[in-house]
Amino acid sequence: MIVYYLTSKCLNLRANTPFDRCPTLPVPYTLTPAQQKGIVDFEMGLATAQVRDDEAGWLSDAGALGGPDDILGFPFYIGINDNVADPAGPFNEKAMNLFRSWAGSHQEDRASVARGEAIFNSKPIIISGVKGLNDNPYFGSPATLTGTCTTCHNTPQMGNHSLAVALDIGLTDGSRRTPDMPLYTLRNLTTGQEVTTTDPGLALSTGKWKDVGRFKGPILRGLAARAPYFHNGFAKDFDAVLDFYTDRFGLVFSRKERQDLIAFLRSL
Ligand code: HEC
Repeated sequence: MIVYYLTSKCLNLRANTPFDRCPTLPVPYTLTPAQQKGIVDFEMGLATAQVRDDEAGWLSDAGALGGPDDILGFPFYIGINDNVADPAGPFNEKAMNLFRSWAGSHQEDRASVARGEAIFNSKPIIISGVKGLNDNPYFGSPATLTGTCTTCHNTPQMGNHSLAVALDIGLTDGSRRTPDMPLYTLRNLTTGQEVTTTDPGLALSTGKWKDVGRFKGPILRGLAARAPYFHNGFAKDFDAVLDFYTDRFGLVFSRKERQDLIAFLRSL
């Protein structure tokens, strides 16, 4: 096997460059520990955060920790604030504390962002049928679990799932397919069970039935700049994100709660 090492030049010219003129890497190609560390250090030094919101203003004003200044100072390791076994201490559902200092602000738009953060941290969500969570012995295989947004978006101040555990929240169930998406029918050769999905997710790389429809919980910073949401663009805006969660988990948001939660998501 030959691995083509596509440099930008090679990629740019690909249309008229025969592949055998692209540089190649020896196979198998392994990184030295120093190279690995260099890449990890580089990647850990990258971050994206929003600076300003049209309504709430500068996101690091008045003691708030939004914006890029603070972001690289927040600690991260795989499993931080893990729901089960973070060696550093028990799970804290109040994982987002960027805008606590705006609570009760006389500027209504800031108070709204702070209320939205509190909803994200504490609004109860009855979680069942999530593969990777409700069927996972690591979490005690709870048939039903009352959690919050931060049960899955648990990395403090960042909102990604801190464990390397992909979850099936039902996003790619065949029943949620829109006409622009593919539809796969998968059959379990042992049990005969069939499922329809628009994206097999983790199962594409593991080949395992239990991994169908499982995806990683992403970092939630800088969200305002990257609609549509979810890996397949299922939600065109924040309202559509919350419609998905109300539909999937039977959540009920008052109009004000919805406005506040969106003000928060828009300020990350
Ligand atoms: C049971 C776990 C779980 C819970 C609870 C949960 N999420 Fe998610 N969330 C996920 C996963 C997994 C994804 C990635 C799905 C995908 O795109 O494949 C995701 C994606 C998202 C995204 C899309 C981000 C992007 O970059 O497109 C937003 C926004 C979001 N969640 C907000 C919320 C909010 C707000 C709540 C609470 C109302 C919540 N989530 C509760 C697991 C969860």
